[in-house]
Amino acid sequence: MENTKKLAKRYARIYAQLEQLFIKTKNKISRIATIASLLHHKMPHFFWTGFYLLDEGELVIGPYQGSLACLVLEKKKGVCWAGILRRQTVIVPNVHKFPGHIACDSRSNSEIVVPIFDKKGKIWGVLDVDSQKFDAFTETDREWLEKIVALI
Ligand code: SME
Repeated sequence: MENTKKLAKRYARIYAQLEQLFIKTKNKISRIATIASLLHHKMPHFFWTGFYLLDEGELVIGPYQGSLACLVLEKKKGVCWAGILRRQTVIVPNVHKFPGHIACDSRSNSEIVVPIFDKKGKIWGVLDVDSQKFDAFTETDREWLEKIVALI
């Protein structure tokens, strides 16, 4: 089977599993911790998988899987902040070429950041995934990760 189709099928299975798991609780921290764990362990191209949350105007680390991350991201700099300021998903094929990129782990080479909106359209955090591969994230990742954060 073609890779894109395989990936979409895998996301569809994860999405269905999350829908079932989320019946248990509406707690957002429980839900994002579950998303980080499930995605990280099921997606071979995910090297670091987690959330940064807005707290009094700062982006601070939330639940994650992978190597030790920066606790606070410098304001309005880097890929996570770009997702918030642009109010849309940002895909970076080569992080070393992204002006202001914040390298928490030098082994990361590409990245996707998906903003999370509340019911009123206010952003309260981002899903951030890093890969050791260059150009690891596609429109399929964007489509499904946006669907997944909409479940939170
Ligand atoms: N690279 C991110 C920082 C977080 S780490 O990838 C875990 C950024 O530039 O915002």
